[in-house]
Amino acid sequence: GITRQYNFNVIMQKTSRLCSSKPIVTVNGRYPGPTLYAREGDNVLVNVVNQVKYNVTIHWHGVRQLRTGWADGPAYITQCPIQPGQSYLYNFTITGQRGTLWYHAHILWLRVTVHGAIVIKPKPNVPYPFSQPYKEVVVILGEWWKADTEAVINQAMKTGQAPNVSDAHTINGHPGPLSSCNSSQSDGFKLQVKSGKTYLLRIVNAALNEDLFFKIAGHSLTVVEVDAIYTKPFSTDTLVITPGQTTNILLTTNKSPSQYLITASPFMDTMVVAVDNKTATATVHYEGSVSTTSATTTTTKIPSRNATPIATSFSNSLRSLNSKDFPCKVPRTIDHSLLFTIGLGVNPCATCVNGSRVVAAINNVSFVMPSSASLLQAHFFNLSGVFTADFPANPPVAFNYTGAGPSNLKTMSGTRIYRLEYNSTVQLVLQDTGIIAPESHPIHLHGFNFFVVGKGVGNYDPKVSPSAFNLVDPIERNTVGVPSGGWAALRFRADNPGVWFLHCHFEVHTTWGLKMAFVVDNGIGVNESILPPPSDLPKC
Ligand code: C2O
Repeated sequence: GITRQYNFNVIMQKTSRLCSSKPIVTVNGRYPGPTLYAREGDNVLVNVVNQVKYNVTIHWHGVRQLRTGWADGPAYITQCPIQPGQSYLYNFTITGQRGTLWYHAHILWLRVTVHGAIVIKPKPNVPYPFSQPYKEVVVILGEWWKADTEAVINQAMKTGQAPNVSDAHTINGHPGPLSSCNSSQSDGFKLQVKSGKTYLLRIVNAALNEDLFFKIAGHSLTVVEVDAIYTKPFSTDTLVITPGQTTNILLTTNKSPSQYLITASPFMDTMVVAVDNKTATATVHYEGSVSTTSATTTTTKIPSRNATPIATSFSNSLRSLNSKDFPCKVPRTIDHSLLFTIGLGVNPCATCVNGSRVVAAINNVSFVMPSSASLLQAHFFNLSGVFTADFPANPPVAFNYTGAGPSNLKTMSGTRIYRLEYNSTVQLVLQDTGIIAPESHPIHLHGFNFFVVGKGVGNYDPKVSPSAFNLVDPIERNTVGVPSGGWAALRFRADNPGVWFLHCHFEVHTTWGLKMAFVVDNGIGVNESILPPPSDLPKC
């Protein structure tokens, strides 16, 4: 591989959407941020310069960071933040990965505008395991807020109530031609295509708090990769992508030359939670067709926001390629069998308007961020008093998912981690408990890909559920949508020493405490230890 150097200046940039403008935090003044290109095997150096008033970190979502956890990015987990006026050089090598990933700020709610795609090409002269596309296009889905998102979440944390929702979804930064605010057809992202070609779309869901359906009117989409893992190709007219996930599709331009609407609309299968119900739009424009007004663009039926069957059938269709070149290495034996309940709860709060606040927890533990040092520093330098290694392997309070709230609404809090020996194998069952209301959660694990060996609704049953596990070609990924009122079973091998964050990729749930971390100890072999920290590692 070669070395790729990038300079990311984190700066404020006045940006207008929905007929008004405001300064937003950006990478190099751009929203979404610039695409980071690399090849498998390359060394990537990104110098991040913080020129805003907030503390900043950047996470390279899905990049495994083998032995280089210092470059992973989640604030207070693997590094102290880059303070205003300071910089930090993220230095990592892309090992054994190719596909679409993304980067985003990993502190406060800054990722709402500080994000961009990471495009990792295969090694030189290595083709894709599907027909070679004529062109490749990055498509980033997101949210636009008229308000200052830091003020929104600060206010919500004060009152103890749920924050507001975004004002629009976006496609490549734009709400699109059908958004409110007198937009014209020229607004929004336009995908210019030639007839009779195949395009590779690299789609990222960078939204803060909502799963999204993605469609292109009149066209079927062939899924070939998710989270930088090749899949067995399959066709669908609707994608479901949670925040954190990426999906690569092939689009064949075999329809009559015209204009077709692209839509991104919310999927949220609980009606209790408020969502931004607006649909972002963009257009596919065939070369040679007349540019028309949006009214005459071929449109599509938008799935209803709680169209769970569409989401279920989509996720059930995902299979690892499991070919000779890309074998599926799902662990067959289990060293650590973990059951984590995930969900929201209510705690008393004397200063909150209703005397209570919404919290979120894993196994009844609402995670508290350290502040004096990152977990990784505490682990590496043996600092005491930063975390305790007593994260429960099983729910400490019995639960029964019934659709109604059980009595165990209270959560504990703590900076607790779960320790794994190097190269041990883990089965992690994530169970949504529906304490306030069942809700799907996009759970993301740093430092690894995991295999999704099973999913189901209702309670996970350790006696029955495993009999239906797929141990042949389960999908491998870094973020999984745990079904509302249901469960997902994951397996992975702890072959990456360091400290690795696990959290809900709904930003509001992370803020409420739906997060924890694994510490993976060093192995004994020469290449089985975390590397020492770089000299410019920020201080707390
Ligand atoms: Cu994409 Cu810890 O996040």
